[in-house]
Amino acid sequence: MTATNSTWTKSSWSQRPALQQPNWPDKAKLATALETLTKLPPLVFAGEIRTLKKQLAQAAEGKAFLLQGGDCSEDFANCTAPGIRENLKVILQMAVVLSYAGGKPVIKVGRIAGQYAKPRSADTEMVHGVEIASYRGDMVNSPEPTAEARVPDPERMVKGYYLAAATMNILRAFTRGGYAALHRVNAWNNEFVKTSPMGRSYERLARHIDNALQFMEVIGFDIDNPIINEASFYTSHEALLLGYEEALTRQDSTTGLWYDCSAHMLWIGDRTRQLDGAHIEFLTGVGNPIGMKVGPKHDLDELKRIIDKLNPENEAGRLTLITRFGAQKIDHYLPHLLRELKKEGYKLVWSCDPMHGNTYTAETGHKTRNFDNILAEIQRFFELHWAEGTVPGGIHFELTGNNVTECTGGGRNILDQNLAEKYLTNCDPRLNAEQSLEIAFQIAEMMRN
Ligand code: PEP
Ligand code: CO
Repeated sequence: MTATNSTWTKSSWSQRPALQQPNWPDKAKLATALETLTKLPPLVFAGEIRTLKKQLAQAAEGKAFLLQGGDCSEDFANCTAPGIRENLKVILQMAVVLSYAGGKPVIKVGRIAGQYAKPRSADTEMVHGVEIASYRGDMVNSPEPTAEARVPDPERMVKGYYLAAATMNILRAFTRGGYAALHRVNAWNNEFVKTSPMGRSYERLARHIDNALQFMEVIGFDIDNPIINEASFYTSHEALLLGYEEALTRQDSTTGLWYDCSAHMLWIGDRTRQLDGAHIEFLTGVGNPIGMKVGPKHDLDELKRIIDKLNPENEAGRLTLITRFGAQKIDHYLPHLLRELKKEGYKLVWSCDPMHGNTYTAETGHKTRNFDNILAEIQRFFELHWAEGTVPGGIHFELTGNNVTECTGGGRNILDQNLAEKYLTNCDPRLNAEQSLEIAFQIAEMMRN
């Protein structure tokens, strides 16, 4: 991709209004932190980014399927080998279900290794009658509900970089070092999930895969090769803190193009995708695959202009539109959007985020989402694409490999009154391992259609 915007530089975004930026109180400290980040090595490489983009081009045509998921907001304290392994495991399990039962290669992209900054609907919140600044992700402030803990601290961006690097390192070890080998498909089953109906369905599927591998070996295929032994796994986060993203943006020496090397894929949130805003400006100039959230408040003409700006050459794989309307509203918004953008001939990956349009507050005061609404939005997403002749190319989840009680419903039918039992998220409610697997089996059915 080439930046046709000739005025673009990695800092040209700073001439535009940037929404959802923290109000860093100490500007000198901010400058020092960004200077430090500018000198640190990239977290990912341009070649990997280009490979992902090629795979996404396949998803745009329906020849592959994008599975993107992870925490709403990664927690610094959860940067541990078991924490990372459990999240990776559930994504690997879902990918196996989707590729084996759904019949398509699955592109695995984590919301991981840098998903540390959050847009918020309000700048402040009331805690015990006191107004304090909102939590904006671990890379900005602490979730602890005190005024001091909520002061934005730029040093947190540097810490976030190092934790993203540590996460990236262990992910590379897990995915390349044999852990993700297909012979181990059974070993990824989560202890808690194992005893559930979902876990047993998964075990059956894992047995089929084992048998297939054994058969290949018997007839003389060498199964000791990277396709079997390694998994490709990519990282992504919302490109929200533009200072951080700029500091990790580097020029690729082989092509001369610029890439944001903080992650393979970056997405723009529904709140920060203004045509003339700083976030769009920044992302026009980097060669990464870009995701863009689209919710009920979009304006179709503005959306078309944003697409032209972000992807002037209509390169397949460059742009993924992640729709998040909610089960109640998807019928109203998606068909028109699909029709209008199809007419323009845009090459897009269409992905469904069934989480952010389905959030509600339970009577217990917990922010939650119901499994049936999540599933209903996905079902309609597929059906509406089929009706319009467009391609349902991917799915975007907030999930964890942990056995949390944050979303209601699912196989174990978590009720509102169970939410308090293991509600661990710092931000939005995530599907737990069992709910995630259950959804994957359902999506696989739809993919087969
Ligand atoms: C998110 O993905 O965590 C998020 C904030 O989404 P959206 O921009 O769609 O609200
Ligand atoms: Co969220």
